[in-house]
Amino acid sequence: RERIIIDTDPGQDDAVAILLALASPEIEVLGITCVAGNVPLALTTRNARMVCELAGRPDLRVVAGCDRPMRRPLVTAEHVHGKTGLDGADLPDPVMPLHPGHAVDFLIETLRTEPPGSVTLVPIGPLTNIGTALERAPDIAARIKRVVLMGGAYFEVGNITPAAEFNIFVDPEAAALVFGAGVPLVVVPLDVTHKALTTPPRIAAFRALGTPVGEAVAGWTDFFERFDMAKYGSEGAPLHDPCTIAWILRPDLFTGREINVEIETGGRFTSGMTVADWWRVTDRAANALFLGDVDADGFYALVTERLARL
Ligand code: BDR
Ligand code: CA
Repeated sequence: RERIIIDTDPGQDDAVAILLALASPEIEVLGITCVAGNVPLALTTRNARMVCELAGRPDLRVVAGCDRPMRRPLVTAEHVHGKTGLDGADLPDPVMPLHPGHAVDFLIETLRTEPPGSVTLVPIGPLTNIGTALERAPDIAARIKRVVLMGGAYFEVGNITPAAEFNIFVDPEAAALVFGAGVPLVVVPLDVTHKALTTPPRIAAFRALGTPVGEAVAGWTDFFERFDMAKYGSEGAPLHDPCTIAWILRPDLFTGREINVEIETGGRFTSGMTVADWWRVTDRAANALFLGDVDADGFYALVTERLARL
């Protein structure tokens, strides 16, 4: 079993990623660490617990983390996710408590106590919690099995600025720490997620599950979809974050390259850009498996089949 910690800012697509992990027997979720991103921390910690309860898992450890980026003010994305971050489905307020303590301490303690190389981190929001943990406790880097993150872009650059993807843009200093840590890294960029679109038939398949989970996921993806179709005229919205969990379950659905990726932390127009050496034009050593393509039908078949189990 892949033992993971999901670091997240739910977010409709984060919610689906959490559900996909909880529905999959190949994965054990050791905890969910929350960060400010799509919406402020008070809402991401609330939303993560609502999703756990929806999945029938009020026993999970949900821990609150950083409420703002390491060195700059927080940028949020209510224009995409709605005021609550989880607009589109009506879920009851959570009753399960937050796990005590801070997510950064939870990450450090878990990595120091579990056997080295046994824990995978899955960041699907800004990288503030992980970057802070690496800065405070550099020894944990060698104990991480790998990091499988959603963030960045190469060809499909820019969904928050022309050059940057949201998760990296919000906290580039944290991202630079993660990309520079020497940890095995798998990156799911917009190049992949923009091929995994929630078309109307795929949303209908979620709804046809006829379960509270299917209903919620259909509501969320419906809400998400309207934004992208109106703004970009695309046939659906990218379901970004579940691609990380799908890669863990079925890496054969994806292709990519082992390349060097650097994070732009300055830049007048390019702050938060993932400078990905896709064509290997530098001699900088590879530090990431940067994915480029996904079998979208295979991905949606997997997500739908797994959500049916909840
Ligand atoms: C990423 O930003 C957020 O809006 C989504 O949840 C996803 O993690 C996509 O750029
Ligand atoms: Ca997210």
